[in-house]
Amino acid sequence: MDNRPIGIFDSGVGGLTVTSRVIEQLPDEEIVYFGDTARVPYGSKSKDTITKFAKQDIRFLLSKDVKAIVVACNSVSSNSLEELKDRFEVPIFGVVIPGAEEAANVSRNKKVGVIATSATIRSGAYEKEILKVDESINVYSKACPLFVPLAEAGWADDEITRLTAKKYLSELLEKDIDTIVMGCTHYPLLKECIKDTVGENVTLVDPAHETALSLKAYLEKNDMLRVSDIPAENKFYVSDKTETFNEICSQALGKCFESEYINIEEY
Ligand code: DGL
Repeated sequence: MDNRPIGIFDSGVGGLTVTSRVIEQLPDEEIVYFGDTARVPYGSKSKDTITKFAKQDIRFLLSKDVKAIVVACNSVSSNSLEELKDRFEVPIFGVVIPGAEEAANVSRNKKVGVIATSATIRSGAYEKEILKVDESINVYSKACPLFVPLAEAGWADDEITRLTAKKYLSELLEKDIDTIVMGCTHYPLLKECIKDTVGENVTLVDPAHETALSLKAYLEKNDMLRVSDIPAENKFYVSDKTETFNEICSQALGKCFESEYINIEEY
């Protein structure tokens, strides 16, 4: 038994979609969430900057005595995971491998689309991991940077978002893909719009679900689950207080939690 909390971090509010999947699988666990709302987006930054920010984010979570860390941010998972695992002793879980494996297993026609930030697409991490499962799969990648501000604006059901989705996704649909990995924490917030655009025959993979399952399996196997009669209490920290946190928190977790400001530059 290990009653310490699980740390989850993201470049901002998008990681709350991953947090909701973790809560779904591990409702008795306590979570410390950090969203780097002052420095979002990571998806347009260089590998070095993303890695530097991620190290600070992890140092902050370690100051809260977490027993494991979920790197909710795809831009970090795809660019910096190995370096972070080498640097820190705490078990660290990324979202890319679970998402890639799920997509490779789900695709019937072996044509998979990956949509993500520019940094994630540039890393080629999803493609590499999908091909590790089945090298005969054709992977088609597309950076969709405008999805992030649209999701943050709460425009999930807006004409502009539908047009943007059509413009980004038509290229992938022309390739006859039957599966799309939503390789960015914000995209599940636009899931209905993406689904309407790609149609029922394309399966949308949210890496967060498989990530939560692998975290659960790890904690079970290593006898690290929280056991307590006291209900789990989650804590949320941000590097800048913004309206967006409250809005996305309500959307992703069904309720608006209080967030506390921390100065991430101190870590
Ligand atoms: N959280 C980021 C990701 O999943 C998206 C937002 C950003 O660009 O920082 O890649």
